[in-house]
Amino acid sequence: MDREEIFSQIQKTFQLEPLLRLQEELLGKKGKLTQALRKIPSLPPEERAAEGQRLNLLKKEVQEALAKKSQDLENKSNQDQSLEYFDVTLPGKKPPIGTGTLHPITQMRQKAEEIFQLMGFEIVEPREVDDDYHVFESLNIPPGHPARDMWDTFWTEQGHIPITHTSSMQNRVLTSRKPPIRAIIPGKCFRHEATDSRHEHTFYQIEGVLVDKNITLTDLIGTLVTFMEAFYEKKIRYKIQPSYFPFVEPGLEFLIECVICQGKGCSTCGRSGWLELVPCGPIHPKVMEMANLDQEKYSGFAWGLGLDRLVMIKYGIEDIRRFHSGDLRFLGQF
Ligand code: PHE
Repeated sequence: MDREEIFSQIQKTFQLEPLLRLQEELLGKKGKLTQALRKIPSLPPEERAAEGQRLNLLKKEVQEALAKKSQDLENKSNQDQSLEYFDVTLPGKKPPIGTGTLHPITQMRQKAEEIFQLMGFEIVEPREVDDDYHVFESLNIPPGHPARDMWDTFWTEQGHIPITHTSSMQNRVLTSRKPPIRAIIPGKCFRHEATDSRHEHTFYQIEGVLVDKNITLTDLIGTLVTFMEAFYEKKIRYKIQPSYFPFVEPGLEFLIECVICQGKGCSTCGRSGWLELVPCGPIHPKVMEMANLDQEKYSGFAWGLGLDRLVMIKYGIEDIRRFHSGDLRFLGQF
C-alpha cells in the first residue's frame, strides 16, 4: 500500500461520487487497506507489530483526508449552487420601508431651478454662514438700523451670521458680473424663531436678481407670473401690494389668488383668498451704488421667494415643521 499514491489520488479527486468510490476501494469490505489489515495475522511474527501499527495509522490518516476532502467538495458545491441561482437581471427585492426619495423641498427646488434656467437665469449658491456686510450693510441696512429687527438673527461667537436670507448674495452677484445679470440663489436660511405651523428656524428661499437696460416693474411682474404658472401648472390670478424692505424701492409683495380655494377663502390663505408669496421690488439705488452699477444705464429687480411655503401650497401641507421631522410616513408620499 503506497501512502504517497493514496494521498495524491485523494487530492486529484474533485467530485463527490469518485471520492466515495475511492473510499470504497480503500476502506470498503474488499478495500485495499481493509484487506492489507486482514492479512496481518498471517505475517511473520517479527513483522506483525510494525506493519500493524503502520497500517492502522495509515487507515486513520486516510479516513481524515477523505472526510476533509468530502467536506471541501460539499462547501464548493454549495457555493456553485448559489452562483448558479444568482440572476443579475432580476429586479432587486423591495426593502421593507421602500427605497429613499428626494426630499419634497429638494424636488421642488430642482423644478424651480429648471423653470428659471429656461428663462435665462444662472444658479448661484449662497454661503451658509456670512458676514454682517453681506447679510445687512450692503443691502442698505447699516448697523443700528431698525429694519434689522425684521430678521431674527443668529450670530456666531465670532460675529458671523448663519444667513437670515439669500439676499446675502445680492452684492456679490452684482459686483462679480456685468449686466445683463440674471441669477437665482436657492439656499437654506436660519432665523431665531419661535416655531409654529408656519414658522421654522431653518427654511429655504430662492432669491432672484436681474439687472439690465430698460428694466421696469412690468418685467418683474412678468417674470414672477411666468414662473408661478409653470410651477403650479395652471393659470394664476395675481396682485401686488406695497411692502417694505430697505434694499428695494418701492418694496412690494406679490400675491396670487389662493390655488387651494380659488379665492373663496380657506385656512391656507387665512380666509383672505390671497397668498402672499414673493416679497420683491426694483433694486434700491443705494444697493446699486454699493455694487458700483451705473444707474444711468442700468436698473433691475430682486425677489426673495419662500420655497417651503410654495411647496406647502402645492401639496396642501399644513405644518411647515413636517419638512424637518424626518418622518418617513410623510416623506414617503413624495
Ligand atoms: N430678503 C427678504 C426677506 O428674507 C426678501 C426679499 C428679497 C425682499 C429680495 C425683497 C427683495 O425677508
